Amino acid sequence: MVNEADITRAAEIVAKAKNLVAFSGAGVSAESGIPTFRDPGGIWDRFDPDEVGTTGGIFSAAARKPEAIRSFLSETVETFEKARPNPGHFALAELERMNILRSVITQNIDDLHFQAGNTRVLEVHGNLYRQRCLACNKKTKLTKEKYLSKARSVLIEAKEFDLSNLLTLMPTCECGSSMRPDVVMFGEAVQVVPESIQEASTCDVMLILGTSGVVYPAASLPRYARGSGAKIIDINPREHPFADMSDVVISEKTGVALPRILEEVKKIRGE
Ligand code: APR
Ligand code: ZN
Repeated sequence: MVNEADITRAAEIVAKAKNLVAFSGAGVSAESGIPTFRDPGGIWDRFDPDEVGTTGGIFSAAARKPEAIRSFLSETVETFEKARPNPGHFALAELERMNILRSVITQNIDDLHFQAGNTRVLEVHGNLYRQRCLACNKKTKLTKEKYLSKARSVLIEAKEFDLSNLLTLMPTCECGSSMRPDVVMFGEAVQVVPESIQEASTCDVMLILGTSGVVYPAASLPRYARGSGAKIIDINPREHPFADMSDVVISEKTGVALPRILEEVKKIRGE
C-alpha cells in the first residue's frame, strides 16, 4: 500500500518545482512488461552481460552458439513488441504538458517515454529503434513496427539462424554501409552526457525513478542535482540507492506512485 504521507510530501515539492527533471531506469518500464536487469530473475540473472551486453560478445556468441543469442534477441523482440507505455510514463508526459517537467533523462532504450508523449527525453544509453551507420555515423530512426517486424522475420520465423542471418538484421545506410542499433553497449561511449549533466545541475527537483544506480556515468546525475541544491524524490519498490540524498523516498512502483503524485499536484494547483 503506498504511503499517502510520502505521496503528499512529494506532490507538494513537485507542485512548486520550476525545473523538474526525471531520471529513469529500467524499473519505470517494468510495468510495461520489460524485465529489469538486476531484479531477481532479471536479464543479468538469465543472460551473460559479457556475451549479450557487448557487440563483440553478441557476434562471437552468434558464431559459437547461435541458438543462445537467438533466444536472447527473440525474447527482446517479443517483449518490446508487446511493450506499451504504462501509467508511470503517462504521468510524466502529463507533467510535461502541465509545464512542470522540463525533461526526462533515461537509461532505457525502449522509446516508451517518447511513445507516452514526452518530447524532451535524453537517452544516455541510446534508443533501440534509432540506427547508426558504422561508416558515416548517420542516425536514422525506424518505426518500432518496421524494426521489430524485420527482427521477428530474421530471429523468430527463420528456420536457420547463424551469424550470417544476424548480419542481415543490420539495415543499409544511404552511404552503402551497414547500420546498427544506436544503443550503448558495455564499454562504449555513453550518449548526451554533457546535456544530461547540464539538466541535472540546473534542476530544482529531480525524480529518481526505478534505477539501481550502479551504472556510471548515468548514476552520477543525482549527485549533480543534489550538489546544485535540488530536492530529490526516489521512487522504487525494492531499494533506494540514493536514500542518503533524498528528501522523499517512496517504496512503490512508479506506475502506482507517479499517477497518485500527479493527482495530488493537480489538487494543489487547482487544475
Ligand atoms: N517501479 C519502479 N522501480 C522498479 C519497478 C517498478 N515497477 N520494478 C523494479 N524496480 C526497480 C528495482 O528495484 C531496481 O532498483 O528498478 C530498478 C532496476 O534496476 P536495474 O535493473 O539495475 O536497471 P537500471 O538501474 O536501469 O540499470 C542501469 O544497467 O545494464 C545496464 O544499460 C543497462 O541501462 C541499464 C543500466
Ligand atoms: Zn552511412
